[in-house]
Amino acid sequence: MDNSFTNQYGSWAIICGASDGLGLELARECASKGLNCALIARRAELLNSIADQLKREYGVETRACPMDLMSDDATAQIEAIANDLPVGLFIINAGGDTVSTRFLESEMTAWRKFMQRNIDLLTESLHNFGTRFRKQGHGGIMVMGSDLAFSGAGRVSLYSASKAYAMNLIESLWTEWQGSNVDISYMVIGSTKTPKMLGILEHYGIDPTAIDLIEPEDLAKWAIANIDQGPTCVYDVDPTSMDPMTSPNARRERILRNTQIIDFFYGDLKADEDLLKNLKSGRNWK
Ligand SMILES: NC(=O)c1ccc[n+]([C@@H]2O[C@H](COP(=O)([O-])OP(=O)(O)OC[C@H]3O[C@@H](n4cnc5c(N)ncnc54)[C@H](OP(=O)(O)O)[C@@H]3O)[C@@H](O)[C@H]2O)c1
Repeated sequence: MDNSFTNQYGSWAIICGASDGLGLELARECASKGLNCALIARRAELLNSIADQLKREYGVETRACPMDLMSDDATAQIEAIANDLPVGLFIINAGGDTVSTRFLESEMTAWRKFMQRNIDLLTESLHNFGTRFRKQGHGGIMVMGSDLAFSGAGRVSLYSASKAYAMNLIESLWTEWQGSNVDISYMVIGSTKTPKMLGILEHYGIDPTAIDLIEPEDLAKWAIANIDQGPTCVYDVDPTSMDPMTSPNARRERILRNTQIIDFFYGDLKADEDLLKNLKSGRNWK
C-alpha cells in the first residue's frame, strides 16, 4: 500500500466548514485516503453524525469540534485541537459571503465579523500551522478560493477582497516555504452546488438548473488530488494555457520572478548583467 499521502498529511486533518457541501466532501476524501478527521462547523448534532458516518465508512478516527469560526477565540480553539492531535493537514473551506450587501449598505460591525473569519482567523491559522508543520517537517495547508479572487465586482466587495487576500498571502508563503516539505495551496473554484449556493438561488427565485453548478464531490476529488500543486490551482483550466490570470504555471513563474525582484531590492540577490537588465524596471509585467 502506498503510504505517501498519510506520511505527508497524516495522521489527522482539520477541516473548517465540514458539515455540508464541499467541506463534507473534502472530509470524506481525506478519510477515504486514511486521514483521521477533526471536523469544524457550528451545527453540533450534524457534525456528530458526520463524524460517526466517516468513522463507520472509512475506519478512521474522527472528532466533531463544534465552534463558530467568527468567534474571538476560534483561532485559540483550533490551536487547542492541534495541540491534542498529530495534525498534518489543515483545510479552510468555510469562507462564503455572510453579509451579501453592497459595501455601504451594511454597518462595519457586520463586515468586522466577516473579516474576523476570512482575514484574521485565516492569517493567524496559516501562521500557527505553518510554524507547526515546518517544525515537524511535513504537512499541508489548503484554502478554498473563488474566481472572485481575480477581480472585484459589485455586491461582493469584502468577499472578493478576502479571496484575493488569501490568494496573495498563500502565493507568498508558497515561495517562502520552498524546500520545507510543507505544501500550501489555494483552490480557485466557480459556482458550486453547495447548500449555501442552492439556498441563495432559492431565496432569489433563480432556477438552479439555469446555471452550470459544479458538483462538490468532483471539486473535492480534484482539490485533494492537487494539494501539492500549489500555490494557486484553478478548477477546469486548460493545463497548457499560459493565461496570466488563471494559469497555475504562469502564476508560479510570476511569483518566483517577483521574489527575485524583491530579493534584489533587499540585497540578497547579486544579479548578473542579464538578470539586472530584466529586473531593472522592478516591474514584472514589463
Ligand atoms: N458555493 C459556491 O458556489 C462557491 C463558489 C466559489 C467559491 N466558493 C467557496 O467554497 C467554500 C465553501 O462554500 P459554501 O458554498 O459551501 O459555503 P460556506 O458557508 O463557505 O461553507 C459552508 C460550511 O462552512 C461552515 N461554516 C460557515 N460559516 C461558519 C462559521 N462561522 N463557523 C463555523 N463553520 C462555518 C458551514 O457549517 P455550519 O453552518 O454548520 O456552521 C458549512 O459546513 C467557501 O470558501 C466559498 O467561498 C463557493
